[in-house]
Amino acid sequence: TLIDLFSQKLITWHSRHGRSGLPWQGKRDPYAVWVSEIMLQQTQVATVLERYPRFMKRFPTVKKLAAAHIDEVLAEWAGLGYYSRARNLHNCAQQVVSEFGGRFPSDPDSLEKLKGIGRSTAGAIAAFAFHARAPILDANVKRILARLFAIEGALQNKLVNDGLWSLADKLLPKKPSDMPVYTQALMDFGATWCTSRKPACLSNEKKCPFEKDCQANLINQALSFPQKIMK
Ligand code: ADE
Repeated sequence: TLIDLFSQKLITWHSRHGRSGLPWQGKRDPYAVWVSEIMLQQTQVATVLERYPRFMKRFPTVKKLAAAHIDEVLAEWAGLGYYSRARNLHNCAQQVVSEFGGRFPSDPDSLEKLKGIGRSTAGAIAAFAFHARAPILDANVKRILARLFAIEGALQNKLVNDGLWSLADKLLPKKPSDMPVYTQALMDFGATWCTSRKPACLSNEKKCPFEKDCQANLINQALSFPQKIMK
């Protein structure tokens, strides 16, 4: 079934079409992973590529970041936008130092209690840094799953949201060592193929590996999922 084959098919897709070799990839240092994930949330990859190495050089460890003055952190964040992220980053670093002795916790539930880390980012950090079998569910992943399984109802609906988390969990690869590439593949697939307005299934040049599996595509309704709320 699709549930059993999904992760391997997605990883195969990533080997041909995904992003690799970016400076934050392949890192097991949770601090390095965390900084990159917060930057990538609301800033384009091209901009993060320019700014991430500088930030890591200025604040190489969570202890150095926690000890810095907030004004230094904000100055280094200049140009990245959404400055509340920089304040949360500084707060979170101080939390990691005071509550965990400067070592990030490895389980998603503990990560999620830290300032500025939501459930999906907690999953991403746990997967990339600790190979934890933790799902992510950002807007791109919600769209992928809503289409693949033709999930009806708005994403804002609690039952829909809970169902998507449960599905995201069932689709995880069995091997923990596959978690980083799988998680990156999901992000890349949503960002470049299963896009909101021009999904690969509607293009002549891109061939979606899930065209025969995707319930939305099978009824020619990719653009109708996820369903919009009626106001
Ligand atoms: N957005 C959030 N995390 C990302 C990542 N690791 N790669 C690309 N885009 C992202």
